[in-house]
Amino acid sequence: MKKTIKLALLPGDGIGPEVMTAALTVLKAVERAYGLSVTVTEGLVGGIAIDTHGTALPKETLSLCETSDAILFGSVGGPKWESLPPEKQPERGALLPLRKHFDLYANLRPAFVYPALIEASPLKNNRLVGGLNILIVRELTSGIYFGKPKGREGSGPSERGFDTMAYSRSEIERIARFAFKTAQNRKKRLVSVDKANVLATMMFWREVVTAIAKEFPDVTLSHLYVDNAAMQLINAPQDFDVILAPNMFGDILSDEAAMITGSIGMLASASLSASGFGLYEPIGGSAPDIAGTNKANPIAQILSLAMLLEHSFALNECATAIHNAIARVLADNYRTRDLVHDDNTREAQQFNILSTQEMGAAIAEKIT
Ligand code: IPM
Ligand code: MG
Repeated sequence: MKKTIKLALLPGDGIGPEVMTAALTVLKAVERAYGLSVTVTEGLVGGIAIDTHGTALPKETLSLCETSDAILFGSVGGPKWESLPPEKQPERGALLPLRKHFDLYANLRPAFVYPALIEASPLKNNRLVGGLNILIVRELTSGIYFGKPKGREGSGPSERGFDTMAYSRSEIERIARFAFKTAQNRKKRLVSVDKANVLATMMFWREVVTAIAKEFPDVTLSHLYVDNAAMQLINAPQDFDVILAPNMFGDILSDEAAMITGSIGMLASASLSASGFGLYEPIGGSAPDIAGTNKANPIAQILSLAMLLEHSFALNECATAIHNAIARVLADNYRTRDLVHDDNTREAQQFNILSTQEMGAAIAEKIT
């Protein structure tokens, strides 16, 4: 196997650069073990790009992405840039435009629990008997995040802020087909999440998803209102296989799912276009409170790298090697801080707490 891969690396802000460095340590190990040749080019994005180029998504960064095979993204944002006008801020000035520019409509967020981490879940462990393996398919380029009009108007007591939740038939159809196909390769169970009891957009969503189900008779489709889905995810997480969700509901439910797996620092994501181009990023934010302390959990970034190798380059073997390495490191009782809860001192004592870079190195060492 000899592949040459050109990667755009966008570490961004907060813990982004630290967890990215750890992911690169793992990438080096994978390159060595599997004879890959990867060219990595770094680009500025988010707050750091605002500071140096006056814009969260500089032209140079966009063209770097356009000429790369895939994008590995860290995280953007932080208190320093929160007072800027919203459209200039790192999230709305860089991340959302990147998703839109490349039409990355299909966002995959796998939530599974490593056996060694069942103890780290805030759920009682009996809720996780039989493990947990959920794939959230989140629509990423439409819905309330992008609907127009959006903005603020007026002043005084009648001043108002507004967003628009809207989906076209074709937008729902393509993400629904993507989710059904994904479910076909798993346990063939798809739960579509909406709020069809209140929102017109979501009634339409349910109707279109139901119509698409006819193309996939082997997949069992059910529907849940998002409030109920949030509850069921806590109550019976192992009942879920694939969850299809509109943009905002997918955002919310994926944080919940991440926490069930032990920490927000565990969840990776792939954002894909119709042609298969992909941006890969941890679902958690830039965690400014711990940025620069070498304490952040790099596993979500490392798993994002694994998703990149799998989805953009069909290097499933490499992705599996990364998963196995993580599982072994965790089984050997190595943890980052976020995975050990202070209320559990007896258990906490048996763990070796690693820094971000030590965790990256430990995982890299186990790549075979
Ligand atoms: C995510 C994040 C982003 C989102 C933010 C940073 C804009 O929360 O990827 O889940 O809301 O999509
Ligand atoms: Mg989110």
